[in-house]
Amino acid sequence: MQLSRKPLVGWLGLAALVLLFPAQRALACDACNQVFGAEMEGKRANSLVGRDFMNAVKHQQNYLDGSGLGSGAFKPSAIVQESAGETRADAQESAAADHAHHDHAHAEGHDHHDHAAHAGHDMASMDHGDMNHAAVQTVAEAKPEQDLMPMPVAIPQADPASASQFGGVYGKPYGTVPEEWKDYPFIDVIERDYSFSFPATSTVPQNIKPDKSFTITLTEGKAYIGNGVVYDGFLTNNTIPGPLLIMDEGDIVEFIVENKGTVPHGASIHAAYTQTSKYLGKINPGEKGRVLFRATLPGVYMYHCAPGGHAIPMHVMFGQYGMMVVKPKHNAYQYEKLTGRSPDIEVYIVQHELYATGKDAVEGKAMYTMYNGKLFRYIEEPIMARPGDMVRIYYLNVGPNHTATFHIVGIIWDFAYWQGNPAVVMPGGQTVTAAPSDSFIVDFRVPPDEGAYTILDHAVGAASRGAIGFIVAKAGVDRPSVIRPEGSDHSQEEMDKMADEAIRVISPFHPTKFDKPQTYMPGTKEVTVSIIGNSYYPKVIEIEPGTKVTWVNEDVFAFLAGEFAGIHNAMGGNGDDVQFNTPLLAHGESASFTFDKEGSYDYTCQPHPYMKARVIVKKPDIDLSNLVAGKTENSGRLIPLAVGAFLVALYAVFRSFKRNKA
Ligand code: CU
Ligand code: CU
Repeated sequence: MQLSRKPLVGWLGLAALVLLFPAQRALACDACNQVFGAEMEGKRANSLVGRDFMNAVKHQQNYLDGSGLGSGAFKPSAIVQESAGETRADAQESAAADHAHHDHAHAEGHDHHDHAAHAGHDMASMDHGDMNHAAVQTVAEAKPEQDLMPMPVAIPQADPASASQFGGVYGKPYGTVPEEWKDYPFIDVIERDYSFSFPATSTVPQNIKPDKSFTITLTEGKAYIGNGVVYDGFLTNNTIPGPLLIMDEGDIVEFIVENKGTVPHGASIHAAYTQTSKYLGKINPGEKGRVLFRATLPGVYMYHCAPGGHAIPMHVMFGQYGMMVVKPKHNAYQYEKLTGRSPDIEVYIVQHELYATGKDAVEGKAMYTMYNGKLFRYIEEPIMARPGDMVRIYYLNVGPNHTATFHIVGIIWDFAYWQGNPAVVMPGGQTVTAAPSDSFIVDFRVPPDEGAYTILDHAVGAASRGAIGFIVAKAGVDRPSVIRPEGSDHSQEEMDKMADEAIRVISPFHPTKFDKPQTYMPGTKEVTVSIIGNSYYPKVIEIEPGTKVTWVNEDVFAFLAGEFAGIHNAMGGNGDDVQFNTPLLAHGESASFTFDKEGSYDYTCQPHPYMKARVIVKKPDIDLSNLVAGKTENSGRLIPLAVGAFLVALYAVFRSFKRNKA
């Protein structure tokens, strides 16, 4: 019974296509792309998407030269030869410079090697020492350089066969339980686990001194995700994804979760093999949670918000997650083992999806997929490298719904390590396939040539929605040794301003100015709104007076309180002025309200106050209900129906003319 304005939209769309055709053609090649970029300096330069685009264009020359991706293909042949000549000369010059650098790097590598061998020798005693020192640092205070020191090369000293079989912390050097743990009620289990030749669990007493401390802050709010789009959802340390947390194998880690939001949040820590939901499961607004665990197995892990029950998938789908990495101590990656040197560049990549509605989130229809919080981030700011560089990528597919096949065009991995564990090493490979929360470390060398290497999710629908970027190889180029995965961090005031300038604001929970009302055929007297994924669908409806609205709860997960489970209602108004208020609805239950008076009714869910939606009650401009209502079963009425439909279409066209005039 829904009358969309599709014919009208269709015509307008066609008109827009005709108008936009020259611009589309301009985007078809990089040369024209630059021209389009120059145009952006004019009227659209101040738009958010304009700024992103200018950034991308600014870096474009980096990947055009010699990559085969660039505008050379579109230039006259004479110019192609000329620029190719330049490139060769440049390459020779910088190759000489690079040669010098390589000697230097080699010497550095030796240093590391010696140092590590020494460290490995003293491992047993060193570790005990670490614990007493308890270097406590919070995320906010952590200095990136300190956090991201190149990994020491740890050549296993004892029991190398088992070490490469399992990786992780077990037996020596952790063979004896520290003195201060002796009172722990399950000390016999800990003693037993330490005697096994595979890693112990992460359980430690909660009252001992940590080696490292991390604090994350959970709130609700907006994040800029690039391409002119602002996302209004849930944040960790004000960003999506949250901070990168790096710890060393064997560390006793204190993990503190601070809820500065207005609804319960919590945390799940995949690097911890111990009870965490007891400590971090549901943290109310204004409160903190804390857990201690030992990082027993090296690898790349996910952490995410987990307020309990239904709210866990909700808060993950709405943006609260991040990457944590446990750097190995007991074992080493193949690169370090076989070459005695650490990678030149370490890149941390979190792949993740965002959704425009709760319904889309539950059904897995991502609107955007991206690396490190921003659509097309590494097109805009390509990752620079030198030919021959050894690169390590820490790759985590957060999902939360889609499987990804991570690939770099022109690269075959030297080694891939399943979930980042150096003991689970695979030589070669074109992709790694990562389901949600799956991770890999991949090691590869940049081939000895200049040009761009495209990083992408080879499940290419995701690449087309933002999960694509470049590594650009150039001789002698300055390149960072570390690329971090955090999203952009702006104050909420800045974000409000950006939301005003945005091309689009999406929120799964509430209508934004970009959510157009769902309209219905004139004469429609009953409509249904689904409650799904902690949101109402459609978020805005426009109905006639006298229409009955029925809300049906399609959320299934009603168990475990958490953030009040998947139980919802719909309440219009508040305080003394409650216009309507349905009972609490569990899965499949429904309730109705008939709207008789014209007006705009905003409503919310009482258990989940961030869930917001709107009913607009408005008399139709013209009442056509008698022409079209409810007689479709009788084929004898098809002609009047067709006439009716024609009149409706005619009316829509007239309205559009009237609007265009106004
Ligand atoms: Cu949360
Ligand atoms: Cu609710």
